[in-house]
Amino acid sequence: MKIILHVWRQASAGAPGRMVRYEVGNANPDMSFLEMLDVLNEDLMNKGEDPVAFDHDCREGICGMCGIMINGMAHGPQPGTTLCQLHMRHFKDGDELYLEPWRARAFPLIKDLVVDRSAFDRIMAAGGFVSVPTGSAPDGNAIPVAKEMAERAMDAAACIGCGACVAACPNASASLFVAAKIAHLGLLPQGQPERDPRALKMVAAMQAEVFGSCTNIGACEAVCPKSIKLEVIARMNRDYLKAAWTHRGEQSGSGAG
Ligand code: SF4
Ligand code: FES
Repeated sequence: MKIILHVWRQASAGAPGRMVRYEVGNANPDMSFLEMLDVLNEDLMNKGEDPVAFDHDCREGICGMCGIMINGMAHGPQPGTTLCQLHMRHFKDGDELYLEPWRARAFPLIKDLVVDRSAFDRIMAAGGFVSVPTGSAPDGNAIPVAKEMAERAMDAAACIGCGACVAACPNASASLFVAAKIAHLGLLPQGQPERDPRALKMVAAMQAEVFGSCTNIGACEAVCPKSIKLEVIARMNRDYLKAAWTHRGEQSGSGAG
């Protein structure tokens, strides 16, 4: 099958960028989208041209590294699917696709389709963990976890940190990502001791990274390849407000995003 690509090419954050038209004449319906880009890059390298930079790692939908806009849709047209798990059979012979990087002020461009998502790492470092005292490992079954809580925590833990929610949001809000992490840890008994400081610190870190605020549009949920639900944002707001009230006078902050 033949696919016509218009790819955002930009050598670095400070360089001018532009769409460049390419034709991939030998794409196969069984290829993943990334494999189709590999074919494009082999052609470009054979011609002595600079290959298109794009992020990827596991290619199994679990690491969160891949992700671009295809015709304005984060991760492309297939719901609940990462770019690496999107196959060319979902496109037609002769389709014309516009490929762009995630666009958000908090995700500065590195090159072509690659952006810097280290803002997510800094939010995680602010509170996205359960502190573990040193000593011998606890018995895995010593703390009972209710089935419903385990399932809800597992649903939130499915977030792979890809950033599609930010890219799709007209406000470039990171609320779905941050809320998924807060819910994942805050639903488990092991996450209770640090629940309040976690909500306060992660929301403060999100605001410091200049992500936009959530206005309940829902574009994040629509594009999330792991089907994280908007309800985690309501949960984050409750956790944040409760923690801010409980610890009033001890910290500053203007509210969840
Ligand atoms: S909430 Fe969904 S879209 Fe956002 S980072 Fe997590 S997996 Fe990606
Ligand atoms: S490359 Fe790991 S999720 Fe796509």
